[in-house]
Amino acid sequence: MIKMNGVIKRFGKNTVLTDVSFEVKKQEIFGLLGPSGAGKTTIINILTNQLNADGGNYETGASSFETGLMLDNDGLFPRLSCADNLNVFADIYNIPRKKSMEALKNVGLGEAAKKSVNNLSKGMRQRLALARAILHNPKILFLDEPTSGLDPATARGIHKLILELREKGATVFLTTHNMDEAVKLCDKVSLLHKGKIIEQGAPDEICRRYDSVKTVPDLESVFIKLTGVELE
Ligand SMILES: Nc1ncnc2c1ncn2[C@@H]1O[C@H](COP(=O)(O)OP(=O)(O)OP(=O)(O)O)[C@@H](O)[C@H]1O
Ligand SMILES: [Mg+2]
Repeated sequence: MIKMNGVIKRFGKNTVLTDVSFEVKKQEIFGLLGPSGAGKTTIINILTNQLNADGGNYETGASSFETGLMLDNDGLFPRLSCADNLNVFADIYNIPRKKSMEALKNVGLGEAAKKSVNNLSKGMRQRLALARAILHNPKILFLDEPTSGLDPATARGIHKLILELREKGATVFLTTHNMDEAVKLCDKVSLLHKGKIIEQGAPDEICRRYDSVKTVPDLESVFIKLTGVELE
């Protein structure tokens, strides 16, 4: 459903992706893990055609109208209400506006429908961005750090939604800094470090490889074992 092969990306003289390759199958939840600046958002921007790559090739099995996108800078209209934010998208995608209300209820924002985005908490904004990303039942969903900075209960709610979307047939590509989240959600993960994939596989396999006591290792300790250097 998603494929990258030998992708290179430069910003000026700075090469931020060197030879990135991976594959995501239909209905998989794929996690791209890596520290800040590793190149995660750049990969999402390339796969969603917001940036061109400088080498390699890539493809996704969904048109832009069949793709849902939740980026870390949430891109919501701050002065519009939650409902109207979704209505704008419903109109663009030719979806009946009543779906907006359903989507808000799905993410636990039914009560906040009339609140303007300006007056939402970070967690509420994040959930609204997710509601917008899933409004049109996308085939592929790209989620850039969907739970960063959220309290555990809100994060669990988002995890549940992601798993439900997969059950309904969606393929999910998400980025995270959090190994626990990857273990809970992902069928497959790739670890990205300075624009290079340095490890990939099923999350529990990776945990076993990097942690002999069978707990979930934190991402930082995996990276230290892989690269021999502490993340800055
Ligand atoms: N438009 C741009 N122009 C120049 N450099 C950029 C641009 N966008 C990203 N970069 C650089 O590319 C590298 C990767 O950035 P990217 O945003 O993909 O990282 P990330 O893994 O998403 O990090 P974070 O976890 O902080 O979101 C960084 O060194 C960043 O400074
Ligand atoms: Mg990012």
